[in-house]
Amino acid sequence: MKAIVFDTFGGTEVLHEADLEIPQPGPGQVRVRIRAIGVNPVDGKIRSGAMEAIFPTTLPAVPGGEIAGTVDALGDGVHNLKIGDDVLGWSDTGSYAQYALADATVLAPKPATLTFPQAAALPVAGDGADRALDLLNLTAGETLLIHGASGALGTIAVQLAVARGARVLGTASPANQDYVTSLGATALVYGDHLVDRVRALAPDGIDAVLDAAGKGALEDSITLRGTTDRIVTTADFRARDLGIVFSEGPQRRDATRLAELARQAADGTLTVTVGATHPLTHAATAQQASDAGHSRGKLVLTVD
Ligand SMILES: NC(=O)c1ccc[n+]([C@@H]2O[C@H](COP(=O)([O-])OP(=O)(O)OC[C@H]3O[C@@H](n4cnc5c(N)ncnc54)[C@H](OP(=O)(O)O)[C@@H]3O)[C@@H](O)[C@H]2O)c1
Repeated sequence: MKAIVFDTFGGTEVLHEADLEIPQPGPGQVRVRIRAIGVNPVDGKIRSGAMEAIFPTTLPAVPGGEIAGTVDALGDGVHNLKIGDDVLGWSDTGSYAQYALADATVLAPKPATLTFPQAAALPVAGDGADRALDLLNLTAGETLLIHGASGALGTIAVQLAVARGARVLGTASPANQDYVTSLGATALVYGDHLVDRVRALAPDGIDAVLDAAGKGALEDSITLRGTTDRIVTTADFRARDLGIVFSEGPQRRDATRLAELARQAADGTLTVTVGATHPLTHAATAQQASDAGHSRGKLVLTVD
């Protein structure tokens, strides 16, 4: 099978095509013929070697962990899926490839009206957004500030927070102000004088902050909250030094919740934005865009 592999840590130039054996599913696993792959910022952080202290990678490695595709082989003991089922979820063997193995219990059925690229955009962002909002104990009537509301995780987090009954203020670049507004948030531009601009929009204060950008907004968040309490970041590794909660894995890989999000995406109650698609062979281009950190919604690789 065709796959993208890296043999050393470095920039996107370390990514190259390779021909690998098609993997065989073990007990409890299925093999998925991949149709679309979610590209996540963490893929680039792993490729660069920046994540080695947290979870070491054995090289050579196939990047990625998020897939949508069709089950094409079953391991022993798999009874919840059958060959031909369209699914979305997490891969155990990397995702930038034509095939991957996955734990059958962490795959959700793909609704027919959801495209494969939309489906591939849901597992990591959906899980990350859900987990962060749970950590914040967000409840109806509260005001939540989200840094990075236009990204893959921010896009889902805004909508899930609004669905919980919260008022959301969401930061993004000038180009994404209308987009963030369309998701249900009050949009504002990140950067200078953020504290004053947030206070003008929310004079009664901010009840909770989700940093989904990791671009240095934690100090402003503490100023706005008046405490480190109820501030969660998915992205800023300075969190612990500042006494702030870092929302980290292991991902819950909750197939029931993922299936629910997929149903909501299919019926239009949850907007899933695929900012750009690239063919699998252009993985380096996609990771360059991901590393730059300004893709609206999710970057997705497609596999013929
Ligand atoms: N811990 C977890 O469970 C978990 C799960 C998923 C993701 N993550 C992490 O969370 C972060 C977001 O992931 P993602 O997939 O949503 O990334 P993404 O799609 O690349 O989104 C990045 C967001 O950051 C914003 N941004 C860019 N430059 C900024 C700046 N200087 N100041 C403030 N905001 C800025 C972008 O806005 P514009 O595009 O409008 O500029 C965009 O909203 C990444 O660091 C990722 O690794 C963690």
